[in-house]
Amino acid sequence: MQQAGLHPIETASRDEIEALQLDRLKWSLSHAYRNVAHYRASFDAAGVHPDDLRDLKDLGRFPLASKETYRKNYPFGLFAVPRNEIVRIHASSGTTGKPTVVGYTRDDIGIWADCVARSIYASGGRPGDILQVSYGYGLFTGGLGAHYGAERLGCTVVPMSGGQTEKQIQLIEDFRPDIIMVTPSYMMAVIEEMTRRGMDPRQTSLRIGIFGAEPWTEEMRRQLEQRAGIDAVDIYGLSEVIGPGVGNECVETKDGLHIWEDHFYPEIVDPATGELLPDGSFGELVFTSLTKQGMPTIRYRTRDLTRLLPGTARSMRRIEKITGRSDDMMIIRGVNVFPTQIEELLLREPRLAPHYQIILSREGPLDAVAVLVEPVDATMTEQAACAGNLRHLIKTHIGISAVVQVVDCGGIERSAGKAKRVVDRRPK
Ligand code: DLL
Repeated sequence: MQQAGLHPIETASRDEIEALQLDRLKWSLSHAYRNVAHYRASFDAAGVHPDDLRDLKDLGRFPLASKETYRKNYPFGLFAVPRNEIVRIHASSGTTGKPTVVGYTRDDIGIWADCVARSIYASGGRPGDILQVSYGYGLFTGGLGAHYGAERLGCTVVPMSGGQTEKQIQLIEDFRPDIIMVTPSYMMAVIEEMTRRGMDPRQTSLRIGIFGAEPWTEEMRRQLEQRAGIDAVDIYGLSEVIGPGVGNECVETKDGLHIWEDHFYPEIVDPATGELLPDGSFGELVFTSLTKQGMPTIRYRTRDLTRLLPGTARSMRRIEKITGRSDDMMIIRGVNVFPTQIEELLLREPRLAPHYQIILSREGPLDAVAVLVEPVDATMTEQAACAGNLRHLIKTHIGISAVVQVVDCGGIERSAGKAKRVVDRRPK
């Protein structure tokens, strides 16, 4: 029965998957080369031609693209079809400069819906389930991406979007959704608000949470599952590649995210040199789209750090839960630190809430780190002990001295979408 909902390629042999990838990769490279001035110029400059790809490994000879590629070709310079064949635009804001613009043909929207439907199915969702979409609708790909995928699977979609926490809760109570798709940090804020109102978040109709758009740890998974009585499953994606649904965990294994490799070809490169690394090595994830028409993605450097692992519940390769983005990596007195490492330790202290912010500043020539945390309970009196405990955990496990500051309950800003974990106050 379970198999009935799977596409045959999800359980195909590696040989079959790789044969399909090679065919599609040849098409995608030549589509980009023929129709996008940037790719033609960059392939020519690197002395490679789409015909040089005889084996999947040959992809490593093609030039890498980055956020900068998108900025330089803002807004529509990377489109590979006439503009009037693009039926949808999305954009991701980033922290500086112009947004990154992406465009989709009607077929691309269909492929994207299939990938998200596959992701929801892998998460345990089934046709007929009620699914609340609490990712933001708009230029962000989260809301509409989840929406079309849930419809494609045959779910009853509640297009709630992000924010309006009271309304989120009202709809959960009244419409009784089985599934929620939302950022993990905002789900925590929703759970917290339920508790504040005297509701038991474990008693809602929700069975599954499909969480992504930001890094989150195994400890966060445990807390979400315990507090809300759900299965918490990880969904990954990014605008430049398509949006949510590039990969997803399987609820039965929760052991990393299967990349939907029939549409997106993953590689891992050394973040410093861009050199291709073998599967299993830790590095930067790079993607090439295999089927996208409107805006092919060729060797896009995601900045996301992880490793590629063999398939388990599906034949397609997995990525380990993302550690963080290379641009979020903090170098504190010579030690590389990711916000997720702090999250992991914070969640070991049951008296502290799962909300945090890391403030970076400079004291003379040295970087200083303050970690702002909140007590679970406003009446808690052991602030100093909790702070001391977390400071000690950070010192022993990460090796840095951080100031831990316990602020009032609700003192750390809640985001309705991606949480802002790091505030950098160091002089530029
Ligand atoms: O965040 C797409 C998305 C929406 C994914 C909803 C999942 C759910 P962007 O706004 O372009 O697109 O941001 C993409 O977010 O490069 C990662 O750094 C981060 N990210 C996305 N999913 C995960 C995840 C959407 N599951 C950037 N774990 C990516 C860790 C994630 N980081």
